[in-house]
Amino acid sequence: MNNNISNGVKKIVFSGVQPSGVLHIGNYFGALQQWVDMQDKYGCIFCVVDYHAITVKQDPRQLNKNIINTVRAYLASGINPERSIIFQQSDISAHTELAWILNCIARISDLNKMTQFKEKSGDSRENVGVGLFAYPVLMAADILLYNTDAVPVGEDQKQHVELSRALARRFNAQFGHTFKIPEAIIKKESARIMGLDNPAKKMSKSAASPANYIALTDKPEVAAKKIMRAVTDSGKEIKFNIVKRPAIANLLNIYALLAGKNIKTLEREYAGRGYGDFKKDLGKVTGEFLSPWQKKYYSFSDEEIKKILKAGAEQARPLAKATLIKTKKNLGLI
Ligand code: AMP
Ligand code: TRP
Repeated sequence: MNNNISNGVKKIVFSGVQPSGVLHIGNYFGALQQWVDMQDKYGCIFCVVDYHAITVKQDPRQLNKNIINTVRAYLASGINPERSIIFQQSDISAHTELAWILNCIARISDLNKMTQFKEKSGDSRENVGVGLFAYPVLMAADILLYNTDAVPVGEDQKQHVELSRALARRFNAQFGHTFKIPEAIIKKESARIMGLDNPAKKMSKSAASPANYIALTDKPEVAAKKIMRAVTDSGKEIKFNIVKRPAIANLLNIYALLAGKNIKTLEREYAGRGYGDFKKDLGKVTGEFLSPWQKKYYSFSDEEIKKILKAGAEQARPLAKATLIKTKKNLGLI
């Protein structure tokens, strides 16, 4: 299993999702769907990044459930544990060890530039945890441990992957070649799904209201209601214009992704028809996507998932260890 990764023939893909809440269609189209498509061409490693999730407050019992449910969502989306490694970040201590080392290479000025930190910390910048500030360094460790070639993510993570590249280059320049320089892979159409209640901000698991997102576990009728209530722009034409009509552009984008149709085709189909019709159909298309996905989702037991995580950690651990040892040698620690 996974000779793909150890024999060095295929390029390596690494990515992860935080187990910090329900996954939504933004996660699916921004990340999961791309991952599934990459399983043929690459040696893939998909992580549940639990140490990232604790950078903000989590309820311990809920966190534990979220870890399992995140894997469940990977499986329901088509990630195959026979072909890809799936594991839990905190199972492999090399992640935090390398993060410490990279913390000594990263500068405060690097992290001060991170827009996600600025957004997440808001006005309380001095009072949020140090972990939230240092989180992109842990992400760099995740990626660099596996000699990763490609990191499929949504647009919001681009800056973090760039930091990983910069840290790898800086380390290599100071201590000799140690890390491969990874590349972010961002699919244009699905890079940024916006909130249903506010098309100026991305759809997010941590949004204040569940009206913001279509969770992958929302019952089809709930999802359809959320769509009916989604904000729209003034005017009534179904036309894609991201600047002037961001709300309808977002819904058109979602429709196109769910139905596998072109936006231009949808514009033609809905020419002369109103938002009501369009939203009703979008609700239907969403349900047609969610139903089979959920059937698969609920088919995996907790026990099965725990086994997959254990086997995944066993496969990933030696790979991570090899990079960590090389890094320590180059630093003079060994
Ligand atoms: P997160 O929910 O922040 O753990 O993100 C997990 C993955 O989903 C990352 O690759 C993100 O870039 C991607 N993602 C999260 N929200 C969105 C969104 N609204 N649109 C597109 N991709 C997203
Ligand atoms: N920071 C990413 C997010 O919030 C999750 C993540 C952690 C990740 N480590 C990673 C993504 C490594 C890709 C590669 O979405």
